[in-house]
Amino acid sequence: MGMTTLRSKTIWIIGASSGIGEALAKHLAAKGARVIISARREDKLQSICNNLDNRQNDHLFEAFDVTDLEAFKQTANKIQSEVNRIDSTILLAGTYDPKLIQDMDIETAHKIIDVNIKGALNLSHIMIPLLKKQNGGQLAFTGSVAGYKGLPKGQPYSATKAAIMNFTESLYVEEPGIDVRLISPGFVETPMTDMNDFEMPMVIKPDEAAKALAEGLLSNSYEIHFPKKFTFIMKFLRLLPHWLYFKITKKMMKEIENRAVQSGK
Ligand SMILES: NC(=O)c1ccc[n+]([C@@H]2O[C@H](COP(=O)([O-])OP(=O)(O)OC[C@H]3O[C@@H](n4cnc5c(N)ncnc54)[C@H](OP(=O)(O)O)[C@@H]3O)[C@@H](O)[C@H]2O)c1
Repeated sequence: MGMTTLRSKTIWIIGASSGIGEALAKHLAAKGARVIISARREDKLQSICNNLDNRQNDHLFEAFDVTDLEAFKQTANKIQSEVNRIDSTILLAGTYDPKLIQDMDIETAHKIIDVNIKGALNLSHIMIPLLKKQNGGQLAFTGSVAGYKGLPKGQPYSATKAAIMNFTESLYVEEPGIDVRLISPGFVETPMTDMNDFEMPMVIKPDEAAKALAEGLLSNSYEIHFPKKFTFIMKFLRLLPHWLYFKITKKMMKEIENRAVQSGK
């Protein structure tokens, strides 16, 4: 059922105007895939699309907002009418605002929930019937290691990622005919994480993330997580009882804050 090669596969990346999505588009195009890239900023998409490898594959770009169900539907239908089959759809669109809960701007918090959760619900609502019509395909959602457990300055972002993890598990069980995947990145250096005011542990570059993600799409693993040395630590922390988890996390946060003070970040 899964994809065994990227060559000549049609892959729709939503959230590809920067960061991991942009790097993934470049990586997949270089591997011979036909890439369709989406996000809101059309100018960025156009320039990325024009510079992709293997241009004979007729890569496309379509700008829309994932929170706009009608625009999402129209875009999916347009793409479907232009390609034989959408082999894989990867939702990377997301938004973030690292703040303590007491400093959170409620309008921004609502926006994070809209993009990160509504976007995923809209994708499922539109793509499940479409994929069933074409006899299956891959559907990948993006969580985060931040969704494994509550972390300071991660709210409400981390909560939306925990929701995606839970939702994707339901979908995996409900839709055996669809190749449902969960992407769980650790820290990746992108415009999103540029706003972090702390030194990110085991941070990787977007092209490393893209490579790991592309390998994951071809594997049989439900969860595609990277970089493994960081994600395994986070997975371990998730298994601990609350009292021990809170103790370790508080200590880790103190160390990160001290390093930030020392480095002036
Ligand atoms: N970087 C990390 O360390 C990290 C770690 C864990 C998880 N993640 C997740 O990985 C995904 C990609 O993040 P990134 O780091 O690559 O961030 P990024 O560079 O900020 O990319 C986010 C992408 O989402 C698009 N987007 C945002 N709101 C949208 C909307 N309403 N409709 C359509 N597209 C929208 C943005 O483009 P436009 O502004 O043009 O719409 C952009 O292409 C996100 O889901 C993020 O939560 C990242």
